[in-house]
Amino acid sequence: MEAENKIEISYNNSGKYPVVIENGYEGLAPLVSDMFPNLKRIMIITDSNVSKLYLDKVRIVLGGCCDTITSFEFEAGESSKNLSTVNDCYNKLLAGDFNRRDLIVALGGGVTGDMAAFVASTYMRGTKFINLPTTLLAMADSSVGGKCGVDYDSYKNIVGSIYMPSLVYMSTSSLATLPEREYSSGMAEILKAGLIKDGRFYEWLINNFSEIMDRDPEAVAYMLNKAVSIKQFYVTKDPYEENERMILNFGHTIGHALEKYYEFNYLHGECVALGMVAAAFISYKRSMLSAEEYYEIRDMFVPFGLPISVDEADTAKVISNIGHDKKNTDTGLRFILLKKAGKAVIANDVTDDEIKEAVGELIAPWD
Ligand SMILES: NC(=O)c1ccc[n+]([C@@H]2O[C@H](COP(=O)([O-])OP(=O)(O)OC[C@H]3O[C@@H](n4cnc5c(N)ncnc54)[C@H](O)[C@@H]3O)[C@@H](O)[C@H]2O)c1
Ligand SMILES: [Zn+2]
Repeated sequence: MEAENKIEISYNNSGKYPVVIENGYEGLAPLVSDMFPNLKRIMIITDSNVSKLYLDKVRIVLGGCCDTITSFEFEAGESSKNLSTVNDCYNKLLAGDFNRRDLIVALGGGVTGDMAAFVASTYMRGTKFINLPTTLLAMADSSVGGKCGVDYDSYKNIVGSIYMPSLVYMSTSSLATLPEREYSSGMAEILKAGLIKDGRFYEWLINNFSEIMDRDPEAVAYMLNKAVSIKQFYVTKDPYEENERMILNFGHTIGHALEKYYEFNYLHGECVALGMVAAAFISYKRSMLSAEEYYEIRDMFVPFGLPISVDEADTAKVISNIGHDKKNTDTGLRFILLKKAGKAVIANDVTDDEIKEAVGELIAPWD
């Protein structure tokens, strides 16, 4: 179970940045000093929960890498991921005389990373940016690939850009304080990585679920390395999601629709798990998976603390939440299906009826 603790992510032929997996923040300072010698200012963007836990530590570690270090703190939660928080952040950057040669650091989960990267991508048309993800979801998924942005009105992630960090540095030690439900939510994206691309890794996850759920540092580092490498594979091939990167959306078409339907009372990973169950069901109905394979995939979310059924869902309403705008093709919906655990394919002809049946199947089918 040995894994490299550094993965190089390439993009646009010549760009690249390292993703470093460590069990502490001590290794961060030499990397930042190396990358950005003579740095004047650093601004750490973080939320109200993470600031209490890790801001002081990271401030101390980064203190020797620059002349002045400030922080911008916002109220934790998706409801802060908006242009008003971005405005407040611009104001703080302006008040601190920040310019493009200074460094913006995200310290937090996907909300912090998405927002801070968006600020970095727009402030002075692009400011240096590094990401220190502190949730499992952000470590395994959202910190890699460059997608960033905020919510606008009732539209999630509708204002944003693609902006690459110079470095992603994750300390698995920060996972010790992550609430159980958030940890499980991150596991959904990791199980997704195995299901779409690497059957052996998926099997490893299943066989090691107790170490994983105990957050054993070695097991966590190994699975993060694998999940990031799988994301890297798609991001490098298709940075702007024109083709193969869509495979990373496995479970997300129905997952996003459920997130909206339940008004964000379920976490992202929980909805993605339900979406993966539904997508596996459609795959089974199309005889791409056997019944046995489908039930096994479905049930294997349970030991990771993820839901596989819901109490109620108005299937027509759920379907109306699917973003038909960008996903419709002449023959139906573009949708990611499974050929087996470890191999996903893009289908262009999934019908509303198939989705309706699959979502219906999620409603506590064994009651
Ligand atoms: N950019 C992408 O490619 C991408 C991919 C997936 C998701 N996302 C975005 O990510 C966001 C969800 O990310 P998330 O699940 O990390 O949410 P989050 O950032 O809101 O973090 C979840 C909760 O955990 C707390 N927290 C964070 N780290 C902690 C720690 N170490 N200990 C204790 N508490 C901690 C946070 O304060 C918050 O309350 C969504 O906005 C979603 O749109 C982006
Ligand atoms: Zn996701």
